[in-house]
Amino acid sequence: MMRRLRSLRAWALCGMVLWIAPFSWAQTYEQRLQACSACHGPNGNSQMPDVPSLAAQPRLFIENQLVLIREGVRDIPAMKALLDGVGDDDLAKMARHFSSQSLVPAPRARDEALLSRGQQLAEQTRCGICHLPTYLGREQMPRLAGQREDYLFTAMRMMQANQAVGRDPIMSASVYGIPEADLKALSHYFAHIKP
Ligand code: HEC
Ligand code: HEC
Repeated sequence: MMRRLRSLRAWALCGMVLWIAPFSWAQTYEQRLQACSACHGPNGNSQMPDVPSLAAQPRLFIENQLVLIREGVRDIPAMKALLDGVGDDDLAKMARHFSSQSLVPAPRARDEALLSRGQQLAEQTRCGICHLPTYLGREQMPRLAGQREDYLFTAMRMMQANQAVGRDPIMSASVYGIPEADLKALSHYFAHIKP
């Protein structure tokens, strides 16, 4: 029991050190790429709630977001230090890397009623005009198909609440006034579309 407690304490301490000096070990391109997987999962397939998968996102979308995050325009404190001083060429290389990975959607429960409600809403609100009718995204518009359901929901809630600093205001307008239950249905639907 004591041994277990002690090792738990060691882990907690380890977490604190990581938090204080996040990813200062990641200096080269390869090391930084490795650091991405700590949150975004193996080959850009996230296994962490509220962290988006990057695999198979349009290259331009990833590249634009990386520039915005590095400049602190899109505010993601957990990522900022990792991108500080990284050149545009390396960001473009990262974008190509993740864009060319295959998406492995996270395991998710299926609710038929929620799915059909989500599909109906997506058609009514015409999300496919920008995200494509397949929801695979293109250019600066992200892929929604097969993305983590928790992340889609959180992202849309942030956009609605004007907390999505540095993100395209066109999206806040698109989700304006959509009730929370409907955002849940939309997230469920997109997460279940085969990428
Ligand atoms: C400590 C965890 C963490 C690390 C490490 C990390 N990210 Fe992130 N990343 C996040 C979170 C959380 C978000 C979503 C935050 C939000 O929307 O507010 C995000 C968002 C993104 C986005 C926007 C994706 C989208 O769908 O909107 C891109 C692109 C991205 N990260 C790329 C990277 C790359 C490349 C690396 C490695 C250089 C990296 N991240 C390292 C946590 C992390
Ligand atoms: C006029 C074009 C347009 C329309 C219509 C549109 N979107 Fe978007 N959407 C975008 C763009 C551009 C982004 C990237 C925004 C950014 O981060 O700057 C985005 C981002 C998103 C994101 C965040 C995904 C991520 O990986 O970070 C979600 C979720 C989303 N849109 C859902 C929707 C839904 C649901 C609808 C329909 C109600 C919709 N969008 C309609 C252009 C559009």
